[in-house]
Amino acid sequence: MTKCHFNFQKATSFAARDKADGLILPFWTKDKSAVPAFKKLGKIPQVDTAIKVGDFNGHKGEVFFIYPEKEKEQRIILLGLGKKESCTTFLLREAFHSLMKECHARRIQSLNLILPEIAIEDEKLVKAISETLVLSNYQFTELKHDGLIKRPANFLESAQFIGISDKLLKIAKQAVDVAKGVYLTRDLVNRNADDVTPEKLADTAKALEKVSSKIKVTVFDKKRIEKEKMGLLLAVNRGSNLEPRFIIATYNGDPNSKDHFALVGKGITYDTGGLSLKPTNFMLDMKSDMAGSATVLGTLYAAANLNLKINLTAVIASSENSIGSKSYKIGDVYQGYSGKTVEITNTDAEGRLALADALSYTVKKLKPKAMINLATLTGAVVVALGDEICGYFANNDKLAEQIEKSAGDTDELIWRLPLQQSYLKMLDSKVADIKNSAGREAGSIQAALFLEQFVEKVPWAHMDIAGTAYWEKSKSYHPYFSTGYGVRMLLDLLENFHNLKKL
Ligand code: BES
Ligand code: MN
Ligand code: ZN
Repeated sequence: MTKCHFNFQKATSFAARDKADGLILPFWTKDKSAVPAFKKLGKIPQVDTAIKVGDFNGHKGEVFFIYPEKEKEQRIILLGLGKKESCTTFLLREAFHSLMKECHARRIQSLNLILPEIAIEDEKLVKAISETLVLSNYQFTELKHDGLIKRPANFLESAQFIGISDKLLKIAKQAVDVAKGVYLTRDLVNRNADDVTPEKLADTAKALEKVSSKIKVTVFDKKRIEKEKMGLLLAVNRGSNLEPRFIIATYNGDPNSKDHFALVGKGITYDTGGLSLKPTNFMLDMKSDMAGSATVLGTLYAAANLNLKINLTAVIASSENSIGSKSYKIGDVYQGYSGKTVEITNTDAEGRLALADALSYTVKKLKPKAMINLATLTGAVVVALGDEICGYFANNDKLAEQIEKSAGDTDELIWRLPLQQSYLKMLDSKVADIKNSAGREAGSIQAALFLEQFVEKVPWAHMDIAGTAYWEKSKSYHPYFSTGYGVRMLLDLLENFHNLKKL
């Protein structure tokens, strides 16, 4: 596991701060010149000169180093936040991420920080900055053996906020628990598909029982999956040498209540496309096809660490979508857990099959108050929204409202797409109850409508994270490869579970 250490502290005043490798001073840009975003501290001549000669202008993400003579820090780091009027927590995350890159390059391990004075609630401000500091520390180096990246020497280890309350310090410390969940998600997605197999995913879930006595994990092996008649998950699994797993992990943080919320994850540990084989370039990042399940586990892990007062059930349907002489066949019909039959028109539309069994099992046996599934489901959602915005669908407007609020508060971008019922006709089959795909038109909507056939009346949302889960390049405040997208939003949603009980 990539270690997630971070020590947040507070100093009661500027004079009372401890020694550190750097002091961060935030600035706005106004009339193309930098102006302090904090109350005056007394004169630091070099800072005034840097601004006066125009070497530092306070633009968003601009970072400028000064080496003072008589301070507790060897470096004073001027951080540009852009224009005060247009500053948001999203932009702050980006600015502090660029700061972190400069700190990493200089092997800075400890910082003192002065918060910018800004019209954003203190809680949100501290949360955004603290999360960015910890999440920017992540780099996936497990498979790098050239020794280029030495850990932990060039990663930040601690930050001291100057002049914050105990309540705000607690929020900063909680960011570490949130980040631990995101790190788990990122590690699981970034590792080799041959290492993160369905069995390994199940072991990872099982290991969470050691984190908290409130977590209990049940794993169905292939025999049990056959007994449960999860024929769609089994169809996907036919071509693989590896057995499938069906995982149910519960976090019981509110034992006095029977209400629980379910998160369902697509756990395709590698997607070759099956007999509808993908071309090489499309297969390149298909080890990330279990990102939905990794997100669900990361969220459960963080919920337990944060000791949230909610009941959460994580459900994962996991298999490889391989190719072989036993592969499930294009044109054949398979019957799932719900009893519905499905004509396979494309074996590369495998995620919706695995999820159909997971969703119908969750609805029938686990009876959640509401449920959300996460899946790298369609390339079409990336065509529609790119890789920064998740496309989601919901059969319940109040649930959608809560999702958008949480997404907004955590700066995870999301956009609702329609469950256009007239398009369901596209999935009509002559031999079965439904077919699993129907070409390129409205591809993401087709997939969502397919899933909707298995959720009955339960308030449900489907998040298609095909674009947001995994990036070849580092962008905005995310590292390259797995982004861990979704964990923060889901945790916020769960913290507000009381709103979800009234859907
Ligand atoms: N796992 C893929 C979707 C995907 C594409 C995820 C790109 C991440 C990045 C999914 O199983 C898939 O293959 N979907 C097909 C559906 C089609 C056959 C109806 C697709 O999007 O092409
Ligand atoms: Mn596929
Ligand atoms: Zn897939």
